[in-house]
Amino acid sequence: MKNSREYYDSIAISYNTQSKERLPYLNAIDDLVVEKMKNHSNLNYLDIGSGDGRRAIKITNKLNISKLSLLEDSEGMLKLLNDKKVILHNVSFFEFSSNDSYDLITCLWNVLGHFPSKNHRFEFFHKIENLLSEKGVLIFDVNNRYNISYYGFENVMNNLVNDRSNNEDTGWFSLRNENVATKVYIHNPFDINEYLKDTSLQLIDTLFVNYETGNLEKTFFEGQLFYIIGKNDGTETTC
Ligand SMILES: C[S@@+](CC[C@H](N)C(=O)[O-])C[C@H]1O[C@@H](n2cnc3c(N)ncnc32)[C@H](O)[C@@H]1O
Repeated sequence: MKNSREYYDSIAISYNTQSKERLPYLNAIDDLVVEKMKNHSNLNYLDIGSGDGRRAIKITNKLNISKLSLLEDSEGMLKLLNDKKVILHNVSFFEFSSNDSYDLITCLWNVLGHFPSKNHRFEFFHKIENLLSEKGVLIFDVNNRYNISYYGFENVMNNLVNDRSNNEDTGWFSLRNENVATKVYIHNPFDINEYLKDTSLQLIDTLFVNYETGNLEKTFFEGQLFYIIGKNDGTETTC
């Protein structure tokens, strides 16, 4: 089993084909980010787990962004980047340090699921607290193990039963591409409450997005999880 960096280095060559197969969903998520941020200007934007950078650059071209930084662990993925002018950080997020504060941070397409442990996910949110500007927002989407529409009724029932065991291992699956595999964490809709509990962050919005069509759905049984998070400063954060 490879770690995330090794896995993405190995599959980088076919990444474009894989992301094209998921295009309606990915485009819908990009549109949601643009819709939420379209009335803001001069944004300092950081995209974490950028992959080939295509989506962050597309989002940047549709918004008023003053500075875009891409952060990506896998050198193989960054080699796919067309635009060589953007600011690149070829490090794991957990080794990244910055004196900047960001108005928009995105982490798109289950990047959080590739972090090696639950403690890393907790660390992620604590680090985000320090990286966000006062009115800044974190926007991310993760795969949802209660998504019946995509994973099917039987698998979701098994996931619900496993979750009752309160075992640390629940939610971990194997992600395979030809002869290469890595472990990936598929979230449940309640994980977010635990992540934010001891932070100064607050949940602004949760949406459920159909993994095949990109349509917005009414319940978490029908889609992947899309979150908008802001700082909890006692006032309402507006997007
Ligand atoms: C499913 S891909 C998504 C790529 C891109 N966001 C997109 O939507 O096309 C997940 C990406 O997260 C990156 N990644 C995983 N863990 C990371 C970490 N700790 N720091 C930086 N990047 C990471 C992987 O290398 C991979 O490129």
